[in-house]
Amino acid sequence: MVSETMAAVLLTGHGGLDKLEYQQNVPVPRIGADDVLVKVEACGLNNTDIWTREAAYGENDAGWKGYLDFPIIQGADIAGEIVDIGPNVSEDRIGEKVLVDNALYADAADEFQALVNADLIGSERNGGYAEYAAVPAENAHQIDSSFSATELATFPTAYVTAERMLNRANVGAGDDVFVTGASGGVGTGLIQLARRRGAHVLGLTSSEKADSVRELGADEVVARDEETVPTVIENWTGDGRVDVVADVVGGELFQEFVETLRPGGRLVTAGAVAGPVTEIDLRTVYLKQVHIVGSTMGTRSEFQDLVRYIEDGDIEPLLAETYPLPEIHEAQRHFCRNDYAGNIVVEP
Ligand SMILES: NC(=O)c1ccc[n+]([C@@H]2O[C@H](COP(=O)([O-])OP(=O)(O)OC[C@H]3O[C@@H](n4cnc5c(N)ncnc54)[C@H](OP(=O)(O)O)[C@@H]3O)[C@@H](O)[C@H]2O)c1
Repeated sequence: MVSETMAAVLLTGHGGLDKLEYQQNVPVPRIGADDVLVKVEACGLNNTDIWTREAAYGENDAGWKGYLDFPIIQGADIAGEIVDIGPNVSEDRIGEKVLVDNALYADAADEFQALVNADLIGSERNGGYAEYAAVPAENAHQIDSSFSATELATFPTAYVTAERMLNRANVGAGDDVFVTGASGGVGTGLIQLARRRGAHVLGLTSSEKADSVRELGADEVVARDEETVPTVIENWTGDGRVDVVADVVGGELFQEFVETLRPGGRLVTAGAVAGPVTEIDLRTVYLKQVHIVGSTMGTRSEFQDLVRYIEDGDIEPLLAETYPLPEIHEAQRHFCRNDYAGNIVVEP
């Protein structure tokens, strides 16, 4: 029997950490006809939580794609168990161990349109910084894995983003792939998912995380505080070039990333931790006839693929730290310190 109230972290408005309030008498979310109620066992942290709280996606009341009706419960990467169901959902689903796809896909003619018009669990709809979350049944994917819920919560947003980036850049066996932000959530996903396709991977990271990135499967590492990208790539590939750059860093190095591409190479961008506005010499783009493509989150089928890779043991979690939910402020401070590899998770 599910109680009527629960503990949750409410985001009460845009601003600092003080806008995140841990409360113990929050109503348990109502489930719609097509929803399931998930008992949240773990929820992974994401840049989106922080950018939304700080209104970094836009002015005034803007969330990552529009108006937010505060208070909201953030938390996109939910792992847990189904404890209740809406009337349109099969009773058999109660008790399922699930990993939640946080994209609320739009009703559209194809997967691309459904994705680019998607809302997010943890933003436009309440998420997983709580004991319970109501999500559409189709977003709660049953998962058969020996990984704990806490380990599973490291995967969803970062790894589905990484898988889509590799699809957008058409990465295949034998490709030389340069992954930036390689120690981060998306970066660790890019390394493992590119390796499972048979690609060769070079990762950009800071020297203190170089060993973690190597252990995860990168063939070579550029320690960005000690060496330059062109020098390392030159030694790594012989011609000093790669087939693909999978970038979440952007900023001042972006031009260098484009220059590392072979003629006809592909650069896919999904993030900009080093800065979203950059200068680029268009002659590099057109003379080498390279492709530059954007990518965001993943489609429903890409999420299904991700669940399969986890179940098959193709990829493994990199859990940096776990915090109890009441310590969300400390968890987010740690997240922003950038002194770890992998992902940080909270447990209600
Ligand atoms: N488009 C999407 O759907 C989507 C989805 C998820 C994330 N994102 C975006 O992708 C980016 C990465 O996300 P994430 O979750 O992987 O973040 P993360 O876990 O914080 O990792 C980012 C990594 O970038 C490296 N880094 C930090 N500052 C840097 C700098 N100035 N220059 C070079 N490298 C730097 C850090 O590693 P080292 O210090 O070891 O180098 C860090 O581990 C963010 O911009 C995020 O908003 C986009």
